[in-house]
Amino acid sequence: MADKIPPPTDQLAAVPLDNAGASSSTVHKPWSPSRTRIRSILGRPDGGAGLASQKVQISGWVKKGREQGKGKFAFLEVNDGSCAANLQVKVDASVSDLSKLVTTGTSLTIDGCLKIPPQGKATKQKIELSAEKVIDVGTVDQHGKTPYPIPKTKLTLEYLRDHTNFRARTTTMAAVTRIRHKICLAAHVFCDKHDICYIHTPIITTSDCEGAGEMFQVTTLINQSEKLEKDLVKNIELTEAEETLAKVEDRSKLKPGLLLPRKDGEIDYSQDFFARQAYLTVSGQLHAETYACSMGDVYTFGPTFRAEKSHTSRHLAEFWMVEVELAFAGVEEAMNCAEALVKDICKYLLEKCLDDMELMKNVDEACIDRLQMVALTSFERVTYTKAITLLEEAVAKGKKFENQVAWRLDLASDHERYLTEVLYKKPVIIYNYPKDIKAFYMRLNDDGETVAAFDVLVPKVGELIGGSQREERMDVLMERMEEKRLPIKEYEWYIDLRRHGTVKHSGFGLGLERMLLFATGMDNIRDVIPFPRYPGRADL
Ligand code: 4AD
Ligand code: MG
Repeated sequence: MADKIPPPTDQLAAVPLDNAGASSSTVHKPWSPSRTRIRSILGRPDGGAGLASQKVQISGWVKKGREQGKGKFAFLEVNDGSCAANLQVKVDASVSDLSKLVTTGTSLTIDGCLKIPPQGKATKQKIELSAEKVIDVGTVDQHGKTPYPIPKTKLTLEYLRDHTNFRARTTTMAAVTRIRHKICLAAHVFCDKHDICYIHTPIITTSDCEGAGEMFQVTTLINQSEKLEKDLVKNIELTEAEETLAKVEDRSKLKPGLLLPRKDGEIDYSQDFFARQAYLTVSGQLHAETYACSMGDVYTFGPTFRAEKSHTSRHLAEFWMVEVELAFAGVEEAMNCAEALVKDICKYLLEKCLDDMELMKNVDEACIDRLQMVALTSFERVTYTKAITLLEEAVAKGKKFENQVAWRLDLASDHERYLTEVLYKKPVIIYNYPKDIKAFYMRLNDDGETVAAFDVLVPKVGELIGGSQREERMDVLMERMEEKRLPIKEYEWYIDLRRHGTVKHSGFGLGLERMLLFATGMDNIRDVIPFPRYPGRADL
């Protein structure tokens, strides 16, 4: 039946809707030979018209449904997540109970025949499915305890954040999610193309990479002590009959944390799961350096965690980072690599998901132009000192910034955006920052004041990438650690890399969600990750 549809040709790459290449446009996946993805119908150059009279089976969710002809038939707009477009399905009342199908959110599997709908002025569809059999229906509970939260009316992104279990059913969130997938792929393709080896750095770590102490602790001590406390209370209840006054007193003394193991007044972490304090990683960089200093060019790509109480539209407590680490490479090479990566991601999106990017124009009309501009323009490179001079000049001319501009102070988001959006109107790489505002591992420049660090700033976002040359001189590294009062003992394994076969090396980290903000034009970082975590919120 359905396998009569010819596989899409390479021509598909030329059309907006289905330019994702052959992989996502194969008509049937080997593991579900009877089901046709809506993308492989509507994503054809002819909008699916060439498939008229083909029989197919589709599955998806009703975006909109309406009974018509006094209940004789219904039109359903069905989406299966394979693309932004919906397939129109016409169902006669003789085929199924229409009232069960038309509610937004209903899931369906339908066998039918593709037909060209009567072409009127208002007809947008090049093809529709005439239902012959409704195989499966998952109805929507409209009146129960938790009604379906995604009606067909327009919903705000803030509202959707309260319904993360369903928000991918909306057109925008689904498009953002497909673009996210492509950005991840683009990063992997870039690294593979340049022989940069993918390594998995640990999520649970005992080292603070940025040395900033913004780590979430990983411990089982609290659960253990809570359990102990509960057991003790229960035990007291059990023996109530012979309860002594002393026991009652014991019970009243039970306070949370009282039973945490202690040694010399401090919590005794030797009794914790890892027999020491452990944390969620803020960056895989230090671990990536161990592999770069053995294997040359490596990258890590995974979730990272920061316990900073930032309530901004650019910060998450859990975000993903692509971190590249290059051996035998200075800061210049790292900047070149970072620029090439950003450009390649932009090109990949323009090539592989233009249909979803077109849709994002509803959010930000300039998003495709921005990708094109970045893909083709070389990034400006400016020292931190020059950037400060430029900002000071702007202030002298009356420009107001929220934060003070001064050498030795970090650039704030509005400074960064002014440089990239207003002054240069393209990506800008700022390099050679004052050592005091940057991490301990960054290589000290000959001036003794600045480090070979760089940030890539892009319009719409500000900082997209942070990177640096790493301090490969053991004595200088240790001095910097002392200056920053870091516990050198904890970093001995890192210092060892300088002790044995030290090498000039450099790297950077690209924030995946920041890249998504840049690409899609979405305003809030909480809307470009499936399950956002930020102060006060970790739903699901
Ligand atoms: O500048 P950062 O802190 O650099 C590092 O973590 C280095 N260890 C990377 C390296 O050299 N391997 O973070 C890198 C990028 C930032 O430029 C930003 O895009 C993103 O990660 N980022 C965040 N994204 C979302 N929420 C947060 N709280 C973020 N903090 C950093
Ligand atoms: Mg940074």
